[in-house]
This record gives sequence, C-alpha cells and structure tokens, in this order.
Amino acid sequence: MRHITVVAEHEYKVHIDEHFEGVLHSISQSHSKIFVVAPAFVAETFHLERVLHALENATLFIVPEGEHQKDIAVVEKIWQALGENGLTRSDAVVAIGGGATTDLGGFAAATWLRGISWYAIPTTLAAMVDASVGGKTGINSHAGKNLIGAFHSPTGVHIDLRFLATLSDRDFAAGLAEVIKVGFIRDASILDILQKQNTVSSARTVAEDLIFRSVAVKADVVSADFQESRLREILNYGHTFGHALEKISHYEMRHGEAVSIGLVFAAELSGKLLGLNMDDISLHRTLLQQFGLPTSTNVPFGPLLELMRSDKKARGSMLRFIGLNSVGNPHWLEDVSSEVLESTYERMGP
Ligand code: GLY
Repeated sequence: MRHITVVAEHEYKVHIDEHFEGVLHSISQSHSKIFVVAPAFVAETFHLERVLHALENATLFIVPEGEHQKDIAVVEKIWQALGENGLTRSDAVVAIGGGATTDLGGFAAATWLRGISWYAIPTTLAAMVDASVGGKTGINSHAGKNLIGAFHSPTGVHIDLRFLATLSDRDFAAGLAEVIKVGFIRDASILDILQKQNTVSSARTVAEDLIFRSVAVKADVVSADFQESRLREILNYGHTFGHALEKISHYEMRHGEAVSIGLVFAAELSGKLLGLNMDDISLHRTLLQQFGLPTSTNVPFGPLLELMRSDKKARGSMLRFIGLNSVGNPHWLEDVSSEVLESTYERMGP
C-alpha cells in the first residue's frame, strides 16, 4: 500500500490500494457516527448496506447518479438526514462514489455544524486522480458548475483500485482526460507512459502508476496553494472551456469528455498566444483520441462564451485561461479577447 501526503488546512493522506471495507471499519471506530453517501449503483455493486450493517454506527444515504446529485435540493435532504441522525461535530461524512459524490459529500460535511470531518472513497478514475483530492467541495447551480462550494479538506482519501474494474471503457477514458491534463501541465512522464498504451485496456494495466503520479502532482500543487490564489489554477487547464461545454450539454457529457475538448481548445489557444509548438498541440489530439475521447464539438460559440464569463477564474469582465508555453510549463493568460477565443474555436474544426 502506498500513500501521498497533502498539507492543506490540515495534513491528510491519500492511500492507494486499500480495501474499502476495512477502511470503513476503521473510520467507524474513530467516530461515534458515520454518515455514508453513495449513489445506488455503487451501493448495490459493493453491497454497502451489508457492509455498513456490520458497523452499527453507520447510516447509508443514497444520492442520485452523476452531476444531478450536486443540487441544493439534494444537499437539503442530506442536512435533514444529518439532523435526524444526530450527527455532531465529532462525527463524519463518508463519500463513496465518483467526483460528483465526493464534491457533494464534502460540501455537506463543510456546511454541517460549520464543518465536520469527511472521508473520500473515490470509485472512478476521475475522482481518484482529481476530485477527491484537494478539498474543493461544492454543488452546481443555474449560474454554472461548482460556483457554490467551500474549501474543506477530507480527513483521508482511500483509493481501492478494485473499483476500476467496474468502470466502462468510456468512464475510464473520461478519467484519463484528467491524467493527460496532469501530464501536460506538470509531469511529462505521464505522457510517455500513455503514448505506449494505445487502447483503454492497455491503459488499465498501468492505472496504479498513473494514479500515483497524478495524485503526487495534485498533492504537490494543493499543498503549495490550497485556496487557489495562483498556482492551483494550473489544475484548471482545459476546464474553463470544459465546464461551459458540460453545462450546455446539461451534464450529459462526462466531465472528462468535456475537459478533453477543453484541453484541445487550451492547446490551440496556447499555440496562438504563447507559441506552443505544433507537435505538442497535435500530441493533445493524438493522446486523447487514442482513448476514444472527443476533441471537437459543434456547439455554437456564443453560449459557450457566456458561460466561460461566469467561470470561477474570471476576474471582473476579464477572461483568464491557463495556457502552456511548452509541456510542463503553464502560463496564465489574462484578459483574452472574445475575438481570439472565437478564432481559436474555429481552428478546432467541427
Ligand atoms: N480540479 C481542480 C482543483 O482541484 O483545483
């Protein structure tokens, strides 16, 4: 078993390759009560009811699937259940699921009694390498994705690699988009590894290594800039465009699929404004396409631009993006004009 340490408002560990049943048992011994949130698919596949029944001090709360669970109406129901079950400051929430569930469970924990402990047990590749680590919790609203939230670090993140076997190739590939992002912004060795795997099945064989390297980068960046005053923004490479696309698709696209297209947009923008070379721009498309990820869209540009303006990284009316000077060398693009964005969008093709 390996672990990586994150130093944020408190220090915690991301453990890799733990059996979640044992993890739940030890979490339940550290708190009088634990409140477990999970979507029905995860609960049924992993027999959570039976596992939690054996613990006696655990309550299971089933949440809707996907991004739709990140809704204030769901949070209200969780708050009500936390009250009914008498969760106090010394108790804990445990979120078992994909990134939407760890965002939601973390947010419920951040807001209950002004913040109680929570643990993340991510079940998707995207959640293992990104969402569950770093203490960003939140929900969506009509205004956009993740605009309501809190920085509230988990007490522990526990990655059980057995969950990966339950993911479809499409879901695994969606997680690879985040891994590829990390490769471009900070760890080119990830790109080297992925260039040797030309199918999702072969990428699965190196999953543990990819997760370890990606979490190491995330831990390093979050430990240096937990509240995203600057450095942490590099983790949003491809996300300004990706979030807008995801919202326009009413969250029908996987987060990683929207990020995949966003990465190509960010690479093209970097070519235009920072001189990122053609080979590196092409490498974005090649790597993403080899895992079946989309690299273009025919959504009209106008509505995307409107949504990008409400992104968290916007400052006033200025649109800001993370770009790349070269692989591993990110650059903050301030005040990018809508004309430049539109011509970049046109270069991406349909
Ligand atoms: N997902 C980007 C971050 O955690 O900052």
